[in-house]
Amino acid sequence: MSLKTEIDTTRLPAHVAVIMDGNGRWAKQQGQMRVFGHKNGVNSVREVSEAAAELGIQVLTLYAFSTENWNRPHEEVEALMELLVHTIHAETETLMKNDIRLETIGDTQSLPPSCQRELAEAIQKTSGNKRMALVLALSYSSRWEIVEAARRLAKLTQAGELKPEDINADVFGRQLTTSRYPDPELLIRTSGELRVSNFLLWQIAYAEFYFTETLWPDFDREEFYKAILDYQNRERRFGKTSDQLLKSADSTQP
Ligand code: IPE
Ligand code: IPE
Ligand code: MG
Repeated sequence: MSLKTEIDTTRLPAHVAVIMDGNGRWAKQQGQMRVFGHKNGVNSVREVSEAAAELGIQVLTLYAFSTENWNRPHEEVEALMELLVHTIHAETETLMKNDIRLETIGDTQSLPPSCQRELAEAIQKTSGNKRMALVLALSYSSRWEIVEAARRLAKLTQAGELKPEDINADVFGRQLTTSRYPDPELLIRTSGELRVSNFLLWQIAYAEFYFTETLWPDFDREEFYKAILDYQNRERRFGKTSDQLLKSADSTQP
């Protein structure tokens, strides 16, 4: 039986972020080239996006290509960019069918023009879809984003539109590329690596982390449900004590 039936849909994270890792190792295990892993990773993207949208998750952010990934061998970067163009083109209909809108975060201007065109078209076509935002982090890194935000705040201050003493966490957060989304409550990383690799450093301040040994091309619906169930068993304290949380839960009882 599917783990889906055990999920409490009244206590879902609004935003789930995923570091999709392990494509290269998955391919190696099959005696194939790394790009074979990336191609198979696309199936997991489709499956997890559908599962998340069906559950009622509002935002799913997928780390697809980091700023640091530009340093990979030229052939791999080129293959990833081609795969991106091809996938977006092929999957737009599925996004429409599932009422999912595509959005991006990251320095997308550094992507090849063909990628930018394909992305712009898919973003425009799916912009009216309401069920879930599928956010692809492309040429993204958190330090890049934070530095950009700092630069914008400096410009606003210099122009006299903002006083330095008015800068607070909210004002700062509004300059980030994720300003239109709630912070992720759950961060998933596949493939057994226990690190964040420059992803959403500001936004994951209070996220719950879920690490699994499963490699991304093997990460399916059930694996996703497992992560959600794990999240639902956590106690999110936000600096308070466990007793305080129990008391405030009691006081909301009728
Ligand atoms: C994740 O898989 C995909 C990208 C970073 C683009 P990897 O390509 O990092 O796979 P491993 O970590 O080498 O197995
Ligand atoms: C993180 O994976 C980036 C993406 C999933 C796109 P990497 O495989 O690039 O991360 P490191 O280099 O192992 O930390
Ligand atoms: Mg990796």
